[in-house]
Amino acid sequence: TEYETILVEQRGRVGWITLNRPQALNALNGRVSEEVAVAAEAFDADSGIGAIVVTGSEKAFAAGADIKEMESKTASEMLETDHFGAWTRFAAVRTPVIAAVSGYALGGGCELAMMCDIILAADSARFGQPEINLGVVPGMGGTQRLIRAVGYYKAAELILSGRMIDAAEAERIGLVSRVVAATELLAEATTLADTIASKSLPSLYAAKATLDAAMETSLEDGLAVEKQQFAALFDTADQKEGMAAFREKRPPHFAHR
Ligand code: HXC
Repeated sequence: TEYETILVEQRGRVGWITLNRPQALNALNGRVSEEVAVAAEAFDADSGIGAIVVTGSEKAFAAGADIKEMESKTASEMLETDHFGAWTRFAAVRTPVIAAVSGYALGGGCELAMMCDIILAADSARFGQPEINLGVVPGMGGTQRLIRAVGYYKAAELILSGRMIDAAEAERIGLVSRVVAATELLAEATTLADTIASKSLPSLYAAKATLDAAMETSLEDGLAVEKQQFAALFDTADQKEGMAAFREKRPPHFAHR
């Protein structure tokens, strides 16, 4: 595939997607969303990939949905074209996804990070939902995912005021899992992604499915998903290998099936 707005690369068992519209601080237009969805779906279909990293530039992970592209749209155009539909495909991949965030992650950029399973932040990272300053509201999941991530009151303050927060605050409220020096961001993302991707692929898919269920359902329904996912893994070669390796006091050699 020819990509115009992203760089795509496989390193070991990790698929890397780098947003690459530097002239617009990686603003997310229709082309970007389609390309990210296609790249992520291709990695997701490849059993040689056990983790995906999404990153941007030093200055911006992504400064939001493309305001210039959206500005003149009507309500019916936004609905008919399902303007943000490609992001639903991205959020639905089974493979664990890490967002490695440096610089601005605003509006749709913050929402893209929240579609990922883990957010690693450089100390230079800035998060926010500034849509209220534009006369709109977050439209790529931010109104729902931010509340689930940080709780109602923090999310309400950020969405209603448009206030930007730094990496330290984002870590304190639970939006990011870890803050690292900006110069170390890609190395840390590589280490974490390699670690995840070395695990058994079926158990990674199962883990992500249970995490998704926890976000989306009641405790009772979530526990039913967990019971199902846990049991199903006992038909995989990797479960037999993982437990045999433990018994034999050696590292496991997963076949990823
Ligand atoms: C289109 C954008 C953009 C965006 C930046 N640019 N953000 N273009 N959409 N979201 C462009 C600028 O127009 C400019 O291009 C170039 O990128 C560099 O940006 P500057 O503003 O000159 O950089 P700087 O002064 O360093 O300021 C950085 C910034 C600022 C603070 C991040 O760019 C900014 O506030 N951006 C918008 C942030 C935002 O409101 N995001 C939410 C978008 S709405 P030119 O060619 O003009 O020089 C959203 C909604 C999602 O995401 C859900 C749907 C409603």
